[in-house]
Amino acid sequence: MKGILLAGGSGTRLSPMTLAASKQLLPVYDKPMVYYPLSTLMLAGIRDIMVISTPEDLPQFRRLLGDGARFGVRFAYAEQPRPDGIAEAFLIGRDWIAGEACALALGDNLIFADHLSVLLRAASARPRGATVFAYRVRDPERYGVVSFDEAGHARDIIEKPAQPESNWAVTGLYFYDERVSDFAAAIKPSARGELEITDLNRRYLEEGSLHVERLGRGCAWLDAGTPDSLLQAATFVQTIQSRQGMLVGCPEEVAFRLGHIDAATLHAHAMSLGKTELGRVLAELADDHHG
Ligand code: G1P
Repeated sequence: MKGILLAGGSGTRLSPMTLAASKQLLPVYDKPMVYYPLSTLMLAGIRDIMVISTPEDLPQFRRLLGDGARFGVRFAYAEQPRPDGIAEAFLIGRDWIAGEACALALGDNLIFADHLSVLLRAASARPRGATVFAYRVRDPERYGVVSFDEAGHARDIIEKPAQPESNWAVTGLYFYDERVSDFAAAIKPSARGELEITDLNRRYLEEGSLHVERLGRGCAWLDAGTPDSLLQAATFVQTIQSRQGMLVGCPEEVAFRLGHIDAATLHAHAMSLGKTELGRVLAELADDHHG
């Protein structure tokens, strides 16, 4: 399975911070925002990742992420010239996806859960259809909203409904089978002129192959698209890391735990982070596994 990391958009709700920098490169506590969804894709077992961003911002992503060797993955890069919608990622990436199954992570979405890698592995192993994750929020009208019938099956998904039928928002992490680019090609632009990811999900829902995984109490889903949610995300990461001494959303750590890189390589990466707390924790992890 391949994965797309979509880091486009103009980030207007974070202006002026985004006047000269991509939203997805802003810090969430001690790491660039994009590290978090990148770690999520890696935890799903995905190693071929296409980073899509605007023509202006893409060079900065290349500078940050390189070819992927640091994390034991392979990055490809592509431009989204205009903000024409999330589902357009599957048209931009079509040749690169080359008829495989493909996941998509939005560059401003952070998901944390104890058993996340189990859920992600299950989603990526599903041979047919699509998997999305739903999370209960107070303000569903900001998101794609999924409603359920009495048996708990997904009934409908609506993008930013004025009167939401449920509190379950669809998070920015999606898994699709190998038909995804064909389905995306058949979508028509919405009233706001975008190829909506919600329309792609509806396509799967209509054929009965959309799996909606509800994330419960033990999970946190944060989108970092406004000053408040950006601060909330940073505080969340800081709380877990300083309390538990464990890292959240650190691709070097994920690469090491998955066996993509060895302890000596992790140690070298830790040294490259200088006298940071992040570097110290990674060095400790590498040293613990040396002997
Ligand atoms: C997008 C999707 C929406 C989804 C959300 C998750 O919204 O269109 O369905 O719930 O991401 O972050 P946007 O960020 O474009 O407002």
